Amino acid sequence: MATQPGVCPCYYRIVSRPHCNTKPDAPTLRRRLLEWYRRSRRDLPWRPTPDRPANPYHVLVSEAMLQQTQVATVLPYFERFITAFPTVADLAAADEQRVLKLWQGLGYYRRARNLHAAAKMIVETFDGAVPATVDQLLQLPGVGRYTAGAIASIAYGVEAPILDGNVARVLARIYRIADPVDQPATRKRLWELAEQLAPGEAPGDLNQAMMELGALVCTPKGPRCMFCPASDGCGAFAAGLTDALPAASPKRKPKAVTHRVLAIERGGRFLFERRPETGLWSNMWQLPTAENGDDLAQRVGLTVGPAASVGVFTHQTTHRTIRFEVGHALAVAGRLRRGAGVWRRLDQLDDLPLAKPQQRAVAMLAARST
Ligand code: ADE
Repeated sequence: MATQPGVCPCYYRIVSRPHCNTKPDAPTLRRRLLEWYRRSRRDLPWRPTPDRPANPYHVLVSEAMLQQTQVATVLPYFERFITAFPTVADLAAADEQRVLKLWQGLGYYRRARNLHAAAKMIVETFDGAVPATVDQLLQLPGVGRYTAGAIASIAYGVEAPILDGNVARVLARIYRIADPVDQPATRKRLWELAEQLAPGEAPGDLNQAMMELGALVCTPKGPRCMFCPASDGCGAFAAGLTDALPAASPKRKPKAVTHRVLAIERGGRFLFERRPETGLWSNMWQLPTAENGDDLAQRVGLTVGPAASVGVFTHQTTHRTIRFEVGHALAVAGRLRRGAGVWRRLDQLDDLPLAKPQQRAVAMLAARST
């Protein structure tokens, strides 16, 4: 359809000029994103600014924390973590339990173990300097293409593309991509679009502009297109499809499972055991917990009295809905199997990293015994 000056054929007709028949060319989109970012960016402690040069270690830590987690949640964890481990060498030398403890509550604990392992590798293999190329960054545990691109661009100004959930949403809307963004073929296409945008001035700012736009303006629900620097030329905006895009494949229903927790008490102290080295919440601590029909007391070599119910709650993980049933029993006989755990009062747990549901079970138990 031919466009007349001042009248756009799109859904949003009342604009000063026709604006939506052309996709933005990469330099124009880049320029608009950069202008907007420089006006609107949040001052985040890991972010380089004109007065604060990039600290690659801070960028590495922030990117590990920001995977699957929002900025507001990350901020206090980041500050505590950097205070505890001011340099990559401090982190490399730290005890894993202390690292996990500082991560406690952020979830996805594998990120903490990977970050710790990455710090060790940086000290041992890269002379203590966070690598500056995407290829070297990809050698670090837990660093995939997105994180490598984010660190290389933000910390070192490398023209590296990035694609995470926020950026995928922004690009799928601008380029009006209707295929589900979680499918490999669509991801490939989105990576290609990100690659086209990467070359040019200030690659780190450009990447952060896309993240920031996805977080603040081009949000999953109710995007604020009137404030968007890219609405002029955005395919989804023009077609009134911002609520429909990006499309996702239907989700699988999480599996419902039950975990039984038994707080075993002896002389005012409770038994805590360490989880296995692999799998969910690996190496974290817990009240004895069975994910199958195990007899918990027998498992640790003790005989317990009758168990009383403390409470029930559910915890959602990516793939499971877990019902936690918490009980309490006194140890009456038996000898704790060697290495089965440690006895602790509930106010002495500061050095034991506990995942959220275990913190909740402990809180239930504490509320009951006060
Ligand atoms: N999400 C992932 N990385 C980020 C960053 N550097 N700034 C803001 N949000 C992010």
